[in-house]
Formats: sequence, structure tokens, C-alpha cells
Amino acid sequence: MSDAGSTEVLVASNRGPVSYAVGADGVLSARRGGGGLVSGLSALGEGAGTWVCAALGEGDREAARRAGPGGRLDAADTGGQAVRMLDIPAATFDAAYNGIANSVLWFVHHLLYQTPFEPVFDAAFEERWAAYEAYNAAFADALAEEAGPGAAVLVQDYHLALVPGLLRERRPDLRIGHFSHTPWAPPELFRVLPDRVARQVLLGILGADRAAFLTERWARAFAACCADVLGADVSPAGASAAGASAAGAVAHAGRTTRLGVHGLGADADFLRERAFRPDVDERLAALREQVGDRRTVVRVDRTELSKNIVRGLLAFRRLLTDRPQWRGRVVHVAFAYPSRQDLAVYRDYTAEVSRVAAEINEEFGAEGWTPVVLHVKDDFARSLAAYRMADVALVNPIRDGMNLVAKEVPVVSERGCALVLSREAGAAAELGEDALLVNPYDIAGTAEALHRALSMAPEERAGRSKRLAEAATALPPRAWFLDQLAALGG
Ligand code: G6P
Repeated sequence: MSDAGSTEVLVASNRGPVSYAVGADGVLSARRGGGGLVSGLSALGEGAGTWVCAALGEGDREAARRAGPGGRLDAADTGGQAVRMLDIPAATFDAAYNGIANSVLWFVHHLLYQTPFEPVFDAAFEERWAAYEAYNAAFADALAEEAGPGAAVLVQDYHLALVPGLLRERRPDLRIGHFSHTPWAPPELFRVLPDRVARQVLLGILGADRAAFLTERWARAFAACCADVLGADVSPAGASAAGASAAGAVAHAGRTTRLGVHGLGADADFLRERAFRPDVDERLAALREQVGDRRTVVRVDRTELSKNIVRGLLAFRRLLTDRPQWRGRVVHVAFAYPSRQDLAVYRDYTAEVSRVAAEINEEFGAEGWTPVVLHVKDDFARSLAAYRMADVALVNPIRDGMNLVAKEVPVVSERGCALVLSREAGAAAELGEDALLVNPYDIAGTAEALHRALSMAPEERAGRSKRLAEAATALPPRAWFLDQLAALGG
């Protein structure tokens, strides 16, 4: 970990650390978010970094307008953090965020292009792509304007894949890092994208000095795409540098971009303090009332196609079918919180999750026992309560950059929990030894893993849970952030 010292640091991400809602009275109310970047930047100390993000909804737009061009949000709303929110025209933002980032790039990296979600690259796509370019250019312009000489700029995720290249054209003096929070598609699937688009995405990220990923698997896939699509020279992963595994490099058109791997861990200090506050105690009591002394299988997700919630429910149904001894003795506590509801595929998926949960309750429910307790309204305190009571955590994404739920549950679970984990989640690289790994497509296999998890002897479960918690907290958010900065030469 480095001393961030006097380095000027900028962070760029689509979603910023605060969001706004306009009340009926026209008054704006701010809501601060959490997560790795928020605690990472705070490690630099107050006022040390600037965060550039997009206005996501009407409230944000209003706040951005009130701040004026180039203006900062009110520091009282952001906890002192300097935040510049970009008021990108609503149609451009919608086409870039919903139309490209979440419908195309997210789908490619999460292998979601399967019937009925097939890619369509037509004239409407071309228009959306132009919006994505404009949205990325707006970020590059703002960053070029904000950054002092030689500043470090940490660009986040698939929304901003073109920013490193565009920013380098504008400001070759900056040190630029890009971090992908998603998996990276293997070349065969990445090449589903129109050639021009595939090249632009790769060249955009290669504009960075360093492109970093959550696991070596995703870094290798990125390098493979660069070799395949661009004919770039890829050097293999080398020895581990201090604090960060050196995942190799990609050389193309006279420039070299180093690759990096930083496996974001759970924030143990924050979680252990937050999870034992009175609001969580209250929700825990309510859940216990509902569940009684039965075992619990817990899952907490954004309702997102890659999270594979429906197959998880079907695996629970299969458990009840194949292993009748669990009927009446286990409750599946499933929290599926709204996400990206502007997109029809997400809305449909949300409806399917509710329908399947209801079917299971209809089929198996009995007097005093509801097999699936599904909540679809976001409530962080209730999620923490579920973590505390979990006997088993089910995390079965089709593919996931990391999956922090898998890392968080063992940290706060009260009795130690068994983890049923998709082998396709980035977290499996670090937690694979003590989790029960499953193929996320295999419903019967997942049901068997649930049975094993529920049947695990208490000592074994406690031992595994403790080791899971240790592995899960190896690189907490601040260290994760500072390591990236150090590796960039900050
Ligand atoms: C993933 C992405 C993040 C994104 C988050 C929530 O974790 O990697 O960049 O912020 O999902 O999605 P949303 O579309 O609500 O920002």
C-alpha cells in the first residue's frame, strides 16, 4: 500500500457517491452511497480527490444544474468529497447507459446473449453507439478540465471504456488507470460486437497506462481479446509486484498498457459495526419471527439477469422435491432488489423471480411455513440482518466480476455460514477452497450443494466460515484503492 501523499487523484464513474431526489415541495434531498470507491477515496483524506460522475435521474440533473457548469455539488451532501456531476442530455445518457452500457457491453461480458436476448446491431444501435461516444467524450472533457498536471485519473467500468483513450488525446501528461468491475468476455463472445465497436472498446481501455481487473481470469480474457481483435502483443503475467499481482501487459501501436489484478475485499470494520446497530437488530427480530427455529438459505442480489436468481429458486425447489426431509425445516430468505428498471428485460426478470417464488410457496407451503420469503424493496439494514442469521448463503451468478455478497456474509454471520458459490463468480478464485462451488446452470447440482451445506456439521461449518471471512477481507476497499494508485505510480 502506498502513501497517497500529495498525488492529485480523480475518479470517474457513471454512478457517483451521492444521488438526489426532488421532493413534492421542489426541495432536493441527497442520499449518499457506499461501496469500495467511496471508502477508497476517503482514505486519501478530506478534499484530496475529485470525483466526476453522471447525473442519473431528474434529482441529479437538478443538483448538477444548480452547481452550474464545472461546478461542484454541495460538500454537505457529499461528506466533504469534491464531486462534479455531469448533466449529460437525458436522451444521450439514456442511449449510452441503458442502450449500450447495460444492454450491450454488460450482456457481452456476462455471457447473457442467449435466446431470447439476442444482439441486434442495426441503425438504432448505431445511434446509441454515437450517444455512448458522446457520453464518454463528455467525461473526457470534464476530466481534462479538472486534472492538474501529472494527476492520476482512475476511470471505472464498462460505461467509460472509451474515456482513457479520449483523455490521453486531450492530456498526455496524466497517469490514467482503468478498472473493470465486471468479468471480461472471452474473444469468441467479445467478437459478437461489430468490429469497429470491439476495436474502439479495446483501444479506449488501452489508452490507459494500466488496465486493472478483479481477477486474473478477467485480465487474461482482456489480453486475449486484444491479441485476437487488434493483433496486439500480449506479455504473460509476471511475478507479483508488491501489493498487486502483475498480470502482464498489452503492447499495441507503440504504447504499452500494463495489466493489473486487485481483488476487492469486504470492508470488515464497516460491516461489523454497521451490522450490529439497532435498526439491524429490529429487522433481525422480525425475520426470526417469520423463520422460527428453521434453517435459512439466504441470498441478496440486485435483480439482475446475471445473478441467476430464478435458477437459484429452482434449485431450492429441487431440494424440497428430492430431499423431502427439508420440507418445513428450511426457509429461503431471498432479497432481490430493483435494478435498471428502465430496461424491459430487467422488469420481466423481476416479474419472473416473483412468479417462481410464489409458485414454490404455492406448491410446498404449509400451515406456519412459507418456504420462500422474498423481499423486493431495497433495505440495507434488512440485508445485514439476513447475513447475520444465514446458515447457508447462496450466490450462484452465471458470471460475476467478483460478488461482494459472497465475501460479506461470512464476515457478519453469527453462527458461521456455509457458502454455495458459483464457480463463475470472481470471488471463487479467492474463496473456492472453503465454499461449495457449483456450476450456475446446473440446477440439480446446486440443489445437491444446498443439501450438503445444510447438512454440514457445525464445527466444519464454523471452520470454513472463519477461513472464508479471512480470505474475504484480505484486500479491504481502502487498500484496494491505494494499491491501484501505487501501481499507477501515484
Ligand atoms: C455493477 C457495475 C457498477 C454499477 C453496479 C450497479 O456492479 O460494475 O458499475 O454501478 O453494477 O448498477 P447501476 O446500473 O445501478 O449503477
